[in-house]
Amino acid sequence: MLYVGAGSGEDVVAAAERGFEVAALDRSPRMLARLRKRLAKRDLEVELIEADLLEHEARLPHDVVVANFFLNVFDRETVDAMLRRCREATTENGLLLIGDFRPPGRRLVRRLLYNTYYAPLNLVAWALGLCVLHPIYDYEEALERAGYRLVARHPQALSDRSPAFYETLVARAR
Ligand SMILES: C[S@@+](CC[C@H](N)C(=O)[O-])C[C@H]1O[C@@H](n2cnc3c(N)ncnc32)[C@H](O)[C@@H]1O
Repeated sequence: MLYVGAGSGEDVVAAAERGFEVAALDRSPRMLARLRKRLAKRDLEVELIEADLLEHEARLPHDVVVANFFLNVFDRETVDAMLRRCREATTENGLLLIGDFRPPGRRLVRRLLYNTYYAPLNLVAWALGLCVLHPIYDYEEALERAGYRLVARHPQALSDRSPAFYETLVARAR
């Protein structure tokens, strides 16, 4: 598995603990140092790659590429370019998993929740220079352009009682 934009990598640790062969890519040495510490504590081996995904050429493709809360900081053109890179790093028939905010859809209640929850968050992150201003992306068309087919969406909630603000998209390489 290859985690792109892995950050300090709680999910990377979880995958390595379950016995997957894992590589983690991030352009931030600070994030990778945190991940290295986490892995060392648990005596886990993960290949750490310090690189900008846009400039990284995978030596071998991976069966599964994971992009958790990574793509949503970029503008649409960059998202397309990142997804093309992910596709190059995925084996034929391999999977791309994207964990991200769940688009609100058309329902009034969900759009209201979206406006009170996500929009201010996005505004603050934009004001701090952390991301571009954009609605929550629905990646389905971008996945098609990059050579994947969306096969499943799994809504995710923080608890049994909270609404599913997040989702995991499962896409298969064509
Ligand atoms: C919001 S964090 C998400 C971290 C982690 N995936 C998670 O779910 O907690 C985004 C990460 O992407 C990394 N990043 C941003 N641009 C990148 C790029 N062009 N290439 C590789 N990593 C990048 C940042 O350094 C940061 O660690």
